[in-house]
Amino acid sequence: MRIPMIAGNWKMNTTVGEAVELVTEIRKGISGLHDVERVICPPFVSLAAVKEALKRTSIKLGAQNLYFEEKGAYTGEVSALMVADLCEYVIIGHSERRQYFGETGEIVNRKVGAALKVGLKPILCIGEKLEDNEAGRTEEVVTEQLRSSLAGIDVCAGLVVAYEPIWAIGTGRAAHGKQVNATATLIRRTLAELYSQEVAQETRILYGGSVTAENIAKFMEQSEIDGALVGGASLKVDQFTSIIRQTESIFFPNNPPTKDLIPW
Ligand code: PGA
Repeated sequence: MRIPMIAGNWKMNTTVGEAVELVTEIRKGISGLHDVERVICPPFVSLAAVKEALKRTSIKLGAQNLYFEEKGAYTGEVSALMVADLCEYVIIGHSERRQYFGETGEIVNRKVGAALKVGLKPILCIGEKLEDNEAGRTEEVVTEQLRSSLAGIDVCAGLVVAYEPIWAIGTGRAAHGKQVNATATLIRRTLAELYSQEVAQETRILYGGSVTAENIAKFMEQSEIDGALVGGASLKVDQFTSIIRQTESIFFPNNPPTKDLIPW
C-alpha cells in the first residue's frame, strides 16, 4: 500500500522564529498521528531550526526548491546536496516557480535529476492553466509536463507527483475529487509507460490547490489520490492538523482514537 502523505508548503512565509512557533504548534496538534506521512516545507532559512524543532518526531522536512548545479559560483542558489543534508523531500517545479522565475520544463527536469542523484525525494508539481482546462487540454498538458520532467531519468525511486491545477492554487477554487482522480489515473498510466507498472503503483500522487479542512475528505476518498500538497491552509494550525487527522481516519479507519495513543 502507498503511504498517504500530507505536505505543507509554507511558500515565502514565516521568519525563523515564526516557523519554529508554527511547527511546534502543529507538532502538538498531531501528536499520536503517525500513519500518514507528514512533511513540512518551510523556507530555506528556517530548515535547520524547524529540523531541530522536529527532533524525536517522525514528521519529515522538505525544501521548496533547489538548483541543479552541484556547486560553484551561483550566488544565492542552494544545491541538492545542501538540501539533502537537512531534508528528505524537495518540491520541484511548483507553478509559482514556473510562472515567476521562468522555470521551464528543461530546468525542472534537471532539478529532478539533481535531487534523485543525491537521494532526495522530489515532490514534482505539474498542472494545467485555466485556459488549458477550459479548452479540454488537461490530459495533454499534464502528460507532457510529466514526460518532460522525467526525460532521461531512468530511476525515479521516491518520486512523488503533485497534481496542482494552476487555477486551483491559492484561489479558493479547488478542483473536483472525481476530476482529480481521473487525472491521477492518467499520471499513473503515464508512469507505467515511462517506467513500469510497479513504479506506477508505488508512486504517490498528491492533489494540491486550495485544499482545506472542509474539502480534504473528498480528495482523500478517491482511489488514486494518495495525499495532498497544502499551501495556505498549512500555515493555520487548526486547518493543517485537521487535514492530517481526517486523512488518517480515511486511510486507516481502524486506528484507535488518537487520544489513546502515547504522544510521540
Ligand atoms: P494552496 O497552495 O493550498 O494555497 O492553494 C497549494 C500549493 O501551491 O502547493
